[in-house]
Amino acid sequence: MQRKTLTQFLVEQQRREAALPGQLRLLIEIVARTCKAISISVNKGALGGMLGDMGAENVQGEAQKKLDVIANERLLEANEWGGHLAAMASEEMETIHLIPNRYPKGEYLLMFDPIDGSSNVDVNLTVGTIFSVLRAPEDVSGRAVTEEDFLQSGRHQVAAGYAIYGPQTLLVLSVGTGVYEFGLDRETGSWVMTQERIRIPEGNREFAINMSNQRFWAPAVQRYVGECMDGKDGPREANFNMRWTGSMVADIHRILKRGGIFLYPWDSRDPKKPGKLRLMYEANPMGFIVEQAGGKAFDGPHRILDIAPTGLHQRVGVIMGDRAEVDRVIDYHREAVDA
Ligand code: AHG
Ligand code: MN
Ligand code: MN
Repeated sequence: MQRKTLTQFLVEQQRREAALPGQLRLLIEIVARTCKAISISVNKGALGGMLGDMGAENVQGEAQKKLDVIANERLLEANEWGGHLAAMASEEMETIHLIPNRYPKGEYLLMFDPIDGSSNVDVNLTVGTIFSVLRAPEDVSGRAVTEEDFLQSGRHQVAAGYAIYGPQTLLVLSVGTGVYEFGLDRETGSWVMTQERIRIPEGNREFAINMSNQRFWAPAVQRYVGECMDGKDGPREANFNMRWTGSMVADIHRILKRGGIFLYPWDSRDPKKPGKLRLMYEANPMGFIVEQAGGKAFDGPHRILDIAPTGLHQRVGVIMGDRAEVDRVIDYHREAVDA
């Protein structure tokens, strides 16, 4: 059986009743093509001079890796000229990136985390690229795009996905019709479908959290993880396994494939930061994918995709994966408030 390529999949989606618009198809093709180029750079590592720090900090105050900057530049350059975008925003840029006047402006807004898990790059562990697509407000063609135009709740995303640069390079994508996975065939240079309509397997007793932050967690998270740790003798009456890669893309991908729950919850380390992960280009796109795969994504009490954003780089608590496990954490948050 011949496997379907990404292009074939997108053309099929374009011909459906609720057709995928041509500009959105072009956008996804260009992002996917850029992820191929990023994958090649990640693969080269030290041999291509790709490892190490830039010697600068991004707007988040985090040390930039060379690959953060290279991947960011690639995504900007590739998406400027196609006429499909009104503007872009990224983890690595303080403010939005407008489409230069020499190119036509399009209907969409693109946000990305060029390299997720970049602290893993230098030690040859899995990293990824996350992206989120919104429609630009209708009046935008006659005026300059502003940061406010991006501040739409995640439920308005028209597409989201990630590339994962692991033992295989994969692209995981949703345009709101389920979640599809494509593998990069390095011999033909094509993205080839490897799984369709991914559903998060239910009931896998495996959690992902950075345990070193335990003393800063809220009581509801303390209770949830504590009960997992109690295993067979505790209230869950089952032993749990734990995995933490330090790359959200890798942890969420594992959950998509074999189930479990991911938590990077609110903690009390820095009162100014309501979490570590960023809403617009980490939590929203990954939340969209998880929901499209039958899972749930909450910040504790609230659905992530319903949060009304207030800033491009806003942070948020993240609890996502197997819906029954996420429901349990939501209940523990509600019970902690009621108590
Ligand atoms: P980024 O590399 O884009 O800044 O994101 C890193 C994120 C995420 O991928 C991961 O889950 C988390 O940071 C890991 O943080 P800790 O080092 O605090 O565990
Ligand atoms: Mn990230
Ligand atoms: Mn990043």
